[in-house]
Amino acid sequence: MPIDFDAIPRDRLPALLRTMPKAELHLHIEGSLEPELIFRLAERNRVDLPYASVEALRAAYAFTDLQSFLDIYYAGASVLLKEADFFDMAWAYFERAAADNIVHAEIFFDPQTHTARGVPMEAVIKGLDHACQRAHSEFGISAKLILCFLRHLSEDEALATLAEAMPWRQHFIGVGLDSGERGNPPEKFARVFAKAREAGLHVVAHAGEEGPPEYIRSALDVLKVERIDHGVRCVEDADLVARLARERMPLTVCPLSNVKLCVFPTLADHNLPALLQAGLCVTINSDDPAYFGGYLNQNFVETFAALPALGPRDAYRLAANSFEASFASDADKARWRAALDAAFGATAS
Ligand code: ADE
Ligand code: ZN
Repeated sequence: MPIDFDAIPRDRLPALLRTMPKAELHLHIEGSLEPELIFRLAERNRVDLPYASVEALRAAYAFTDLQSFLDIYYAGASVLLKEADFFDMAWAYFERAAADNIVHAEIFFDPQTHTARGVPMEAVIKGLDHACQRAHSEFGISAKLILCFLRHLSEDEALATLAEAMPWRQHFIGVGLDSGERGNPPEKFARVFAKAREAGLHVVAHAGEEGPPEYIRSALDVLKVERIDHGVRCVEDADLVARLARERMPLTVCPLSNVKLCVFPTLADHNLPALLQAGLCVTINSDDPAYFGGYLNQNFVETFAALPALGPRDAYRLAANSFEASFASDADKARWRAALDAAFGATAS
């Protein structure tokens, strides 16, 4: 039976957003490091922090743009030294993901942030992989890793990082591109992305967060990405929007992140309704939830509260898009879609 979206009263929307099954496709695991855990790990590893307390660190989370955030984000990650630290960080995320009814997560990690400090690649990947395995056995969450290259560094460094990670190839499903976007266009990483594709890895890239629509085009044409992370600036180029819709190219949008990093002044100004209206395969994600004021359900609930144009039909569409845009098997996608239908069917009846 088709779902009667109009029969769902608006006041049931927050509960529905929270309980519906969903996938998270844009989450930097280092961005899930809460100040309390940063301080606990700093003490455990005897790392000096330039902040006196959890409160002082939190008070520094007033960002003016992407770079002002990245400076603090890389400082926070400096407490991660041992395999157990990576496990503890990821496990804390999975406990929150389970509470948010996330059934599938594709998680970014930034190995260069750690290997540059002398942390072995093995400790990073094994710690994260252990948490992914346990998330599956304990919560039934299917969890996969995507290795991101830092775009403010050189392509040669990215190539060396990929080579260093290849002994653990079976523990990650793809590569991505993150860090400071301005002045670091996707084409700078053409060779390393070609190598990753040859190795059978999935490929995604941040583009059109702060960077221009041309960066989205070169991520598609040069890197041959399968998803665009953020991509909200695509609306500045109508031909590009038409292409993204035609190709059903997913955009992993992160509303709370976009407001915290001043991409939009407020959530009410976010272009998510326009992106949906244009027929794009948009998803909602949390990006760096410990820094941006909320995990995935918080992103859903606050975004829908701020944008009255969004209703139950959009909630369903966004969750369905998250499964469609994932790198999961068709069988898993069909199973999650059926669970989504059941959640909406129960609410509409
Ligand atoms: N690394 C962590 N969060 C990021 C973001 N929003 N954009 C680029 N790089 C990031
Ligand atoms: Zn991101």
